[in-house]
Amino acid sequence: MTIQSMPVVGLEGVVAAETLLSHVDGEKGELVIAGARVADLAFAESFEAVTARLWSLASGTAHDAADLARDLGRARLDAHARMPAIFAVTDGMPIVDGFRAAAAAIHQHGTTRPEVALLGAMPVIAAGLVRRANGLDLVRPDPGLGQAADLLRMLRGEAATDSETAALNAYLITVSDHGMNASTFAGRVVASTGADLFMAVTAAYCALSGPLHGGAPEPVLNMLDDIGSVDRIESWIDDALKRGERLMGFGHRIYRVRDPRADVLKAAVEKLDRAGRDLGLAARVETYARKALATHKPDRKLDTNVEFYTAILLDALQIPRQAFTPVFAAARTAGWIGHAMEQQRKGRLLRPASVYIGDMPA
Ligand code: COA
Repeated sequence: MTIQSMPVVGLEGVVAAETLLSHVDGEKGELVIAGARVADLAFAESFEAVTARLWSLASGTAHDAADLARDLGRARLDAHARMPAIFAVTDGMPIVDGFRAAAAAIHQHGTTRPEVALLGAMPVIAAGLVRRANGLDLVRPDPGLGQAADLLRMLRGEAATDSETAALNAYLITVSDHGMNASTFAGRVVASTGADLFMAVTAAYCALSGPLHGGAPEPVLNMLDDIGSVDRIESWIDDALKRGERLMGFGHRIYRVRDPRADVLKAAVEKLDRAGRDLGLAARVETYARKALATHKPDRKLDTNVEFYTAILLDALQIPRQAFTPVFAAARTAGWIGHAMEQQRKGRLLRPASVYIGDMPA
């Protein structure tokens, strides 16, 4: 067996697709989205403009950012009108599960293009589920706003400040796409069978919801709350590692250095005009966690990942913890859709192999 054909359990390093959408360099700590470094996009463009770039590359047809922003506004209104029917399906479910059921229920409606219907629906569903869970009335979308401003407005019931909108916009861009991560792969597998975008995005979301992928920010905040003060940092982290627990917000399958998204999101927190949680404590937890992980796993470079500052940023934006994964999904849907389009345009049915290690019949 050649090195190329040796089985790799976990598919590490296996190439599943060619993509024009994003590139992750784990050694250099670099993320390129649609041809630009993430740090150069996050505070310079709108989420709609980055989505238009991704979808243009994926589909081979130009998507205009202003047209997309207008169409997404209309799609948010459409989704809002459908929320009563969606609640009939999601009532009684935790928000993370309700979001999955709602995403699956948002099938194509009227003449709206499926990619626009889906991406426009995401913030409406996320905000709707959170408000419903808290006994609050839904806030009608404002189609004149961008996705970031309207998501914050629909969640909180009041307009966000410019700095809050810019911070959430930077977050949406930063996590909009990230190479062949587990959820994108799941979505591409489904798209490769010829299933539609709604199916592909629902599958991708299911993969995202796990704590090893997109479900880590809430446990990050729980960790920071539990640590509580600077004098408890070392003992808390040492004890957790001794118990064999993983520190949430650290480690990555691809990055061997600090996740470049962590820096962008840290900058987004620092630009906020309203203070969130104790950034000083978080920074000291980060410093000690990196040191402790280096001793704990000297052969494995474990550094800060995107989820650490995601948690701090979303918390500072007063987004409730149960909404973190849906808000992540509202951003990553741009990438999932792009990958599904690209897979359907250029790819083959994704059908890897397994190595049978069971008994053979006599
Ligand atoms: N804390 C403590 N130990 C960790 C760790 C962490 N955050 N991340 C990895 N390790 C340890 C593993 O326990 C493993 O040890 P072992 O060989 O004794 O079993 C070793 O480092 C290698 O880990 P591995 O599971 O091979 O890494 P991976 O590439 O499969 O996992 C993650 C990557 C992200 C799943 C992993 O780092 C993790 O669970 N991080 C915490 C969750 C998180 O922040 N997720 C968000 C990712 S963006």
